[in-house]
Amino acid sequence: MFSVSKHMLKSKGVRTTYYNRNLTLDTDNIIHKNFIKNINPDKPRGENTFYKELNILKFLEKNFVNKPKIDHYPFPKVISHGETRESGKLTISMTFCGINAIENACLYSEKKNIIPTNYYNTVECIINNLKNNSILYLDWKGDNVCINKYGHISLIDFGRFKILKEESRKYRYRLDKMYAKPDLNELKKSFFSYVSCSESEFLLEKALLRDKDGRLKWKHKLFKRAPWGMLYYF
Ligand SMILES: Nc1ncnc2c1ncn2[C@@H]1O[C@H](COP(=O)(O)OP(=O)(O)OP(=O)(O)O)[C@@H](O)[C@H]1O
Ligand SMILES: [Mg+2]
Repeated sequence: MFSVSKHMLKSKGVRTTYYNRNLTLDTDNIIHKNFIKNINPDKPRGENTFYKELNILKFLEKNFVNKPKIDHYPFPKVISHGETRESGKLTISMTFCGINAIENACLYSEKKNIIPTNYYNTVECIINNLKNNSILYLDWKGDNVCINKYGHISLIDFGRFKILKEESRKYRYRLDKMYAKPDLNELKKSFFSYVSCSESEFLLEKALLRDKDGRLKWKHKLFKRAPWGMLYYF
């Protein structure tokens, strides 16, 4: 079996539910992501990361430009946020964007995986919006890209990113470098050969295996540094 965390293995049904203290999916298709006030605020899921994620999601929505045009909004939308006084928990409640690409790959063997719609344009639209807003997203991986039942793809998890404020050449260079479209044939070839996958197989299912150092293949730097790699997640 693949080494995926428990909540992901629960995704073998149609809908995914996360039974986890820090993340819940309610019946109205709303995800509640919790952060803890009383730990080091800079730790993942600490108070500062709560504000960071909340603000960037709102910022993305406010500045969203639908280009190339797609039929859905490709990031989570914040529905509400707040603090539970007794438990010191901070929560962002946001739209549910579907199962993530790894969970979708788990469904492949039963041929229940979801096929994306308007795939290329969605990837391009996501990248354009990050770039236009000077956001260096730093957590590219299959767990952070979701697909819903309509085949709509979204980028989630804004826990790790940098926002480049200065318009200096150095910053512009970093943004351009991150999002420049590579030779897609070459990129695809490198992914497929890294996970020893033939063209007729499903890349992410193969990437669920570990590499020789015991790390999950889809977390390898090849995947992690390639925004356009989203094109091969589904
Ligand atoms: N808005 C959303 N829509 C659909 N699924 C979501 C959403 N937010 C979170 N999830 C699911 O919960 C998982 C964990 O959420 P998220 O990645 O935001 O948290 P995290 O603690 O930063 O995780 P990690 O450190 O593992 O990347 C995601 O991989 C995804 O499957
Ligand atoms: Mg994540």
